[in-house]
Amino acid sequence: MDNDLSLDFLRVVEQAAIACAHTMGQGDRHGSDRVAVEAMRRVMDDLPMDGTIVIGEGERDEAPMLYIGEKVGAATKGVGNLPEVDIAVDPLEGTNLCATGAANAIAVLAAASKGGLLHAPDLYMEKLVVGPRAKHAVSLDRPVKDNLKSIAKALERRVEDLVIMVLDRDRHAKLIADIRAAGARIRLIGDGDLSAGISAAVDGSSVHAVMGTGGAPEGVLTAAAMRCLGGEIFARLVVSKPEHEERCRAMGITDFRRIYSSHDLASGESIIFAATGVTDGTMLKGVRFFGHGVRTSSIVMQNQPRQIRFVDTIHVTRTDDDVRIRF
Ligand code: FBP
Repeated sequence: MDNDLSLDFLRVVEQAAIACAHTMGQGDRHGSDRVAVEAMRRVMDDLPMDGTIVIGEGERDEAPMLYIGEKVGAATKGVGNLPEVDIAVDPLEGTNLCATGAANAIAVLAAASKGGLLHAPDLYMEKLVVGPRAKHAVSLDRPVKDNLKSIAKALERRVEDLVIMVLDRDRHAKLIADIRAAGARIRLIGDGDLSAGISAAVDGSSVHAVMGTGGAPEGVLTAAAMRCLGGEIFARLVVSKPEHEERCRAMGITDFRRIYSSHDLASGESIIFAATGVTDGTMLKGVRFFGHGVRTSSIVMQNQPRQIRFVDTIHVTRTDDDVRIRF
């Protein structure tokens, strides 16, 4: 995959974030998602690629665009000789966060060379996300208190000094009790375990791990980010009904108890990940509108060569030259 695509992908997530940021706080999560999807789709077809959506808005009959299997990129307009790319998108990760103006809503895209992203069914996944220093010290099958001890040791601090991000859900009552009993600190979040995972892999974010069950598509996107950041996600699909088994089989998954690592979920030799903040968050600022334009804050990463770019873009909308740019 051509790494020059990373700046094209940046444009895609920037435009999705700008579109849905206009709807921040309007209380309409579906409307926010819709405008993000439309903006992402619009920009995508200008990109010099022969792209296929492998993680998107759902099956073709339930999503009008960015559905799984949809072809995107300039190849759809007849341009030939373009790189084949598999794409995972979450045009608005944290629809409720945007609808209520809460922190950490982001627009996200990950890309890999053909076959490089797991075609995950839209089920839940148990997840454990840690940064580079703790990734060899934990296991999804170990008791929470043991993982916390290992993370604390790897990060050269006490368990009491750790901050663990957990989705605020009833299903996490035991997990939360276990973390509390071990003495670690918790940040409960309303939504957005993908942006939480990115924070856990970056020193200085004050987040040391993400634990709990969230969406499998977000798990694959987190894995793509981990491939670039050097962190790790350990994950296992929650397959609890015959219908879940069928959905897994339809995607070629037969080992329902398998623990996936980031290399399993995002196996591509070449990976690109891009995200833009919609609302203010731990790592990224939200979209800011001002008289002459719009300002966005993004992260664009690739694993070959490994580059992590924090991009602050001013999109000038006024056509004359009399525009003031603030540092
Ligand atoms: P949306 O972007 O679809 O609103 O989902 C956000 C999210 O919080 C994810 O970050 C997380 O993986 C998943 O939903 C959790 O699902 P649920 O809300 O069903 O617990």
